[in-house]
Amino acid sequence: MENSLDAGEFYRYPPDIYLRISSEDGKETEGATVHTIRVEDNGSGVPARHIPSAFGQVFYGSKYKLRQSRGTFGLGGTMAILYGQITTSKPVKVISSTAGKCIHEYDVLIDIRRNRPMVLRHKTYNNPDRWHGTVIEIKMEGDYSRASAKVLEYLKQTAIVVPYANLSFVDPKGRLYRFERATKEMPKPPTETKLHPYGSDVETLKRMVSTTSCKNMVSFMMEHFHKVGRKMALNFLEYAKIPPKKRPHRLKTEDLVKLAKAMKEFPHFRAPSADCLSPLGEDLLRTGIQKELKPEFVAVRQRSPSVYSGYPFIVEVAVAYGGEIPKTGSILLYRFANRIPLLYDEASDVAWKVVNEEVNWKYYNVNPAEAPLAVFVHICSTKIPYRSVGKEFVAEVPEIEREILNGVREAARELSLFLSRRKSVEREKRRLDIFERFLPKIARFSSELAGKDKVPEVKPLLKSVAKYGAEED
Ligand SMILES: Nc1ncnc2c1ncn2[C@@H]1O[C@H](COP(=O)(O)OP(=O)(O)OP(=O)(O)O)[C@@H](O)[C@H]1O
Ligand SMILES: [Mg+2]
Repeated sequence: MENSLDAGEFYRYPPDIYLRISSEDGKETEGATVHTIRVEDNGSGVPARHIPSAFGQVFYGSKYKLRQSRGTFGLGGTMAILYGQITTSKPVKVISSTAGKCIHEYDVLIDIRRNRPMVLRHKTYNNPDRWHGTVIEIKMEGDYSRASAKVLEYLKQTAIVVPYANLSFVDPKGRLYRFERATKEMPKPPTETKLHPYGSDVETLKRMVSTTSCKNMVSFMMEHFHKVGRKMALNFLEYAKIPPKKRPHRLKTEDLVKLAKAMKEFPHFRAPSADCLSPLGEDLLRTGIQKELKPEFVAVRQRSPSVYSGYPFIVEVAVAYGGEIPKTGSILLYRFANRIPLLYDEASDVAWKVVNEEVNWKYYNVNPAEAPLAVFVHICSTKIPYRSVGKEFVAEVPEIEREILNGVREAARELSLFLSRRKSVEREKRRLDIFERFLPKIARFSSELAGKDKVPEVKPLLKSVAKYGAEED
């Protein structure tokens, strides 16, 4: 699904994704059985010549670029396929077209020993309607009854963070779940960027010097690094004690170690720009939250771009209250990284620490143990500092922690204003209720006492004691 979303967003097609999980015998029994997982998208499609490698070879990907995308390493899709192959020995079926004349259908197995695709079948069909998209079908063993809650949670959270997508899901019992798009507006796509010197390492430098066409170190620095001009390159090389005229491919490993160290230490590099990032934006995040949770109140904050270890990042935060948000006895935390929901190991995530240990909610007039409160944290970066290979929780990088904290505080302040305003409106309503109940009686009795026939109008009186205008009602 993440590949499907990447493939739609990059070409600006609002994604339509259909997911079906079906079991072999059509029934859902306890324990692990063979399931077929089918994902259909309307994305870019995969060029036919790349299909076998994209789905039959680990580490084959088109996203090794410094630009925000969900995928990076060419592992995600292939790992799912590999898991299917290991548990069922069945090939993956891929049907794809890039809106060309043909639709291609492949059955591919991964040759695990050589990490090479094995094509078992290849068929082509005419494509008169110029369909573009990809259909993947994997058979794998799994226990759907145990996994179902997470599958649905994943879809719901994806619908929040991708409010411009239509997601449909049919579960093994044939039940259809629909998450409909609330807008066709999509976030601005990211541009590709060069590596920032702060983010380089010896391995990366080794790869760069062996493939570069630059003839000397000055042009190497200017060509391959983000925001490095001639003057900056010369200053830096002097600092690193590397001759500007030296040929890059002549650098030995110890030179590269020295270079990498100097890149981390040189204080004058300019901060990276955030053009390579594609945050959701306050409006889209609000739309997603309103669509799926219908809260009574939501405050959204996008922080300005910031940097850690040479990687630019942007934090987006929202605080939502009431509506369909359940009271669970603690704050409901939704975490997203590059528009992927993170569902596991919540308590190890930096956002959990900020929300539960660093923000003093009492200060904002909320008691997290009683309030229907949800906090959303979205981090976008060219490199998310995950703490484990499972890509499920983000490390406590001080710069990121600070941005989350400031964002949550700003949004919480808005919530606090909303709550205290609501409280005073409620108090006022109670006060007016009392006037409304007793003023007519007082008017009647005092008229009687004064011996007058005509009871005076109380409406103008009521109006004059009201603190707020009619719109506040
Ligand atoms: N639905 C799809 N539409 C278009 N291209 C796809 C689709 N699924 C996979 N691909 C192509 O196959 C490649 C491999 O996918 P895979 O999920 O293995 O790696 P990735 O997305 O690049 O990185 P990651 O390991 O982080 O997921 C992708 O880089 C992409 O080029
Ligand atoms: Mg992927």
